Amino acid sequence: MEYNFDEIIPRKGSNCLKYDKIGDFFGSEDILPMWIADMDFRTPDFVLNALKERLEHPVMGYFFHPEAYYQAIVAWMQKRHQWNISSKWICFSPGVVAGLSFLVQIFTEKNDKVLIQTPVYPPFYEVVEKNGREIITNPLVVNGNVYEMDLNDLEEKLKKHPKLMIISNPHNPVGRCWTPAELKPVAELCLKYNCLLISDEIHSDLMMTGYKHTPVATLSEAIAQNTITCMAPSKTFNLAAMFTSEIIIPNPELRTRFKNFMNDTVHIYGNVFGSVASQAAYTYGADWLDQLCRYLTGNVAYCQQFIADNLPQLRTYRHEATYLLWVNFKGLGLTHEQLSEKLIKEARLGLNDGKAFGTAGDNFMRINLACPRSTVETAMHRLAETFNK
Ligand SMILES: Cc1ncc(COP(=O)(O)O)c(C=O)c1O
Repeated sequence: MEYNFDEIIPRKGSNCLKYDKIGDFFGSEDILPMWIADMDFRTPDFVLNALKERLEHPVMGYFFHPEAYYQAIVAWMQKRHQWNISSKWICFSPGVVAGLSFLVQIFTEKNDKVLIQTPVYPPFYEVVEKNGREIITNPLVVNGNVYEMDLNDLEEKLKKHPKLMIISNPHNPVGRCWTPAELKPVAELCLKYNCLLISDEIHSDLMMTGYKHTPVATLSEAIAQNTITCMAPSKTFNLAAMFTSEIIIPNPELRTRFKNFMNDTVHIYGNVFGSVASQAAYTYGADWLDQLCRYLTGNVAYCQQFIADNLPQLRTYRHEATYLLWVNFKGLGLTHEQLSEKLIKEARLGLNDGKAFGTAGDNFMRINLACPRSTVETAMHRLAETFNK
């Protein structure tokens, strides 16, 4: 079956954060929202039908995840990522960010250090700092048009004894799909310095054509035992409002600590609709996802070409994964504040402010391209009109 990602679905009035809160975030209602990481596409029928079927039962009492839910995740990891996991390793969390915060609370103590690679998804800072832990950073470096990891700096930072390292694999916002050759030394250095590795792989299904995700935990048995992987159907199938994710923990001792914490804080059961939607998505979603990834690859290619042809002052980087494009506006010679103001007031575009991703995001913006091509075209033309005056 062919899916139509060109369809425009009006979202205003559906209590949708991306559209209905635009005024709160950008100070005006007349803004094209290309910020928060959710998609403007229709939820596929195989998910909606599973939810409707559950609604046929008139009782909504307490619930638990059935074995079929776990098996759907196991099969997805096997087919999509060639990762053989046991259903026992899967722990529920009501979202990845919540899961990261729980992991920080379980595996570190107040004032412990946590290592992250910057620029990075803003909640990586928040889950550390709001829990009273200290951030140390291993900044990514740009080589040509590619963001890379700095392993020498990483080792220096690991000598400061962080208890945890959290990585974004693939990386939000720089769009890298890390290769096994890049990931292995990171995971091995974590082992050498006794630092637990948390790999946030929420974007792992959203690969541009020609790229393949590597779960860190597949790299060796020793690495698997020192790695906790956060996955979810929420980016892949746009189910963020379901607050459902899976934290995959092969190491039995670490898993027991996580499960005990979740049990004590009554976070183990989750939401029946999240469970039903995840199971359906992971069971029937492969073909839809293949078509989605092709469409997103087209959106990214369109933008990069448009920018190269019409806005050479702007710069993009090799983009391998995620629907979030990281754009460098430094060539315009504006201050970050002037740039933000022009984008909101003149281009009327709601983008994610690069500074939220760390100081390396000064004069950068992140553009969400998970929308119909016509929306992307409108956004690009507004950028050109604004900056080519
Ligand atoms: C790297 C990363 N982790 C986690 C999340 C959010 O996960 P959740 O909605 O499950 O908390 C996002 C959302 O954009 C993300 O980019």
